[in-house]
Amino acid sequence: MDKIRAMITGVQGYVPEYRLTNKELESLVETNDEWIVSRTGIKERRILKGENQGTSVMGAAAVKGLLEKTGTDPMDIELIICATVTPDMPFPAAANLIADQVGAKKSYSFDVSAACSGFLYALQLGSQFIQSGTHKKVIVVGADKMSAIVDYQDRTTCILFGDGAGAVLLEPTTEELGVMDAILKADGAGAPYLHMKAGGSRKPATAETLAAREHFAYQEGSTVFKFAVTNMAEVSAEVMERNNLTGDDIAWLVPHQANKRIIDATANRMGIGSSKVMMNIERYGNTTAGTIPLCLWEYESQLKKGDNLILAAFGGGFTWGSIYLKWGYDPK
Ligand code: UT7
Repeated sequence: MDKIRAMITGVQGYVPEYRLTNKELESLVETNDEWIVSRTGIKERRILKGENQGTSVMGAAAVKGLLEKTGTDPMDIELIICATVTPDMPFPAAANLIADQVGAKKSYSFDVSAACSGFLYALQLGSQFIQSGTHKKVIVVGADKMSAIVDYQDRTTCILFGDGAGAVLLEPTTEELGVMDAILKADGAGAPYLHMKAGGSRKPATAETLAAREHFAYQEGSTVFKFAVTNMAEVSAEVMERNNLTGDDIAWLVPHQANKRIIDATANRMGIGSSKVMMNIERYGNTTAGTIPLCLWEYESQLKKGDNLILAAFGGGFTWGSIYLKWGYDPK
């Protein structure tokens, strides 16, 4: 029997309208446009405004658009996996709320927590359900409302993050297309460098944790930067080597958008020229699990059937990884 692979058959993104510019950040913290652009590549990020607007609203908007453009009946979706570290609430899962909002009444759904590598983890997980032959239509979402956990008094983190979501539809194929290989890694010893101090079971919310501003993302940026540069490049090189790929074979590098300098260093190390690197950090900043599907969405019209893509990410956990996939369709 032919090997079944999971192929992305559609991609859709959603970003909220409000643009938080470097200029506006200058009024919140001691920073300036020149510093932010030269150190990160970011000019603006999108922010989800409004009462009772959580991550699921953005995830659902992306999934609705995806169902529409692929002509998929929500009742045919069997599974929705949402990668996020900012679910609407600790439970239920954002994926449950997304499934409800899009009318995927026959689908089961759950979240994956792997921070900036979340979309890669969820994509690999979703593709396993397809490859096993048990599922025919799986949706993988990467969505984060980072503005909910960013401290707008901390200039070292608030300049980096934004809100956004992206979603892909996975379906089976017996062609040599789709998710070809994946290497995913994690090291919990990295937790001290990127985490949220309170609000979990170790340190539940109290008046003291609130006063100490411990319900925001905490990051030791330069340490994370060093690990990100080394590990993202290494794991991507590993996945390329074991599939006998060189930089010339790669149509697109799809890197997590944390810092333009990290992206450039990774591409350099892999021998991939900047014209083959997907990049939208300038406009969206780091949307955590949203970055990679948002890139795929924005570059979809430039992708051709059979293109070799290397997806790569590094983030909190630490978690990191790389996925090799062959794009499944020409621009429609
Ligand atoms: O996606 C999850 C994974 N996260 C990442 O991959 C992020 C990795 N880290 C980074 O992207 C970078 O480390 C940052 C952008 C966060 C910081 O850039 P950096 O080049 O590592 O700067 P730094 O932390 O070494 O700070 C250099 C200086 C410091 O001043 P002193 O101590 O040299 O006087 C900072 O206080 O820049 C200062 N600084 C700022 N200045 C103006 C830090 N943030 C700002 C700011 N505006 N927003």
